[in-house]
Amino acid sequence: MRGLILAGGHGTRLRPLTHTSAKQLIPIANRPVLFFGIEALRDAGIRQIVIVVGHTKSEIVSAVGDGSRFGVHVEYVEQDAPRGLAHAVLTAEPLLGREPFMMYLGDNFLLDGVSDVVRRFDPARDDALVLLAHVQRPEEFGVARVEGGLVRAVVEKPARPPSNLGIVGVYVFQSAIFDACRAIRPSPRGELEITDAIQHLIDSGRRVVAATVGGYWKDTGRPEDLLDANRMVLDRLEPSQAGDVDTASRVEFRVVIGKGARVRNSVIRGPALIGEGAVIEDAYVGPFTTIGDGCVVRGSEVENSILLAEAQLVGLEERVIDSLLGRAAVVHGRAHKPRALRFVLGDRSAVGL
Ligand code: G1P
Repeated sequence: MRGLILAGGHGTRLRPLTHTSAKQLIPIANRPVLFFGIEALRDAGIRQIVIVVGHTKSEIVSAVGDGSRFGVHVEYVEQDAPRGLAHAVLTAEPLLGREPFMMYLGDNFLLDGVSDVVRRFDPARDDALVLLAHVQRPEEFGVARVEGGLVRAVVEKPARPPSNLGIVGVYVFQSAIFDACRAIRPSPRGELEITDAIQHLIDSGRRVVAATVGGYWKDTGRPEDLLDANRMVLDRLEPSQAGDVDTASRVEFRVVIGKGARVRNSVIRGPALIGEGAVIEDAYVGPFTTIGDGCVVRGSEVENSILLAEAQLVGLEERVIDSLLGRAAVVHGRAHKPRALRFVLGDRSAVGL
């Protein structure tokens, strides 16, 4: 089986981070979410992967390369504009050949990977497989109606969902999907929807099987989703200590401290991850926090948050919680007179005081 990872799109719900970074490269536990996807495919035995890229192509190519560091072979194909998932499938058709392939949306995160999904698909019998999960707000997803293990209908973000079975961004297709993608017309949002192509398969009498996600799954489209996925990964952390922790500091529970990190007069309460070269000084780093490489947390407290590389929290009186700081973002206290709030914020930044 081959792999098709979709890594285009604008990531509007993650602005301002996605003004400067592809959404698939935003890290969970200090690793781009896309890397978890590539490894999930590899661990399921998929070694040939096509990645569809958009306007963030160069960034994705420089992060992933030819895939050899993951033990896979990666080829890229460029989609000229985000014209829908079915359009992306057609863009990749020349590179995919005729064998079955798994399509994986690059911002999805499945803690237990996709090996079970590959096992569940029977290439001799099934024309497609759709991975589903029970979701609280089905109207935000593609939604499936399932009977006897077969998908009977799928509809994209319905106002009145026929079930609470949301479509997870993982599918397996036989080559019949290409004709289905060609047969459909753009949706009201102007995109060629993969959901419509799947419905076309069903209407043509093809066998579309349903599988449900066993473990934890998240579409990491919003900041709170990233924090949630970060918590799940940190919860499985194997503690290790490659940094320098002074005797005035306490490291509790499961904590990873990266190479060259310095911890001075601080408390780190895991599960937490401190990136390489980070400086933690007169600080408290609480549970479910990932501190990126080269970050500085000085005279401040932080918990249940993600700091991307080089971000800084300095001299803050109140604890920072539930926060996502972009690369080299700086939040500092009111050391200067007059005591006041001072900001330089990018477009669409969000600050809660
Ligand atoms: C896409 C699919 C949708 C699916 C979702 C999963 O939606 O169109 O059917 O439920 O991914 O993440 P999008 O997130 O592109 O709006």
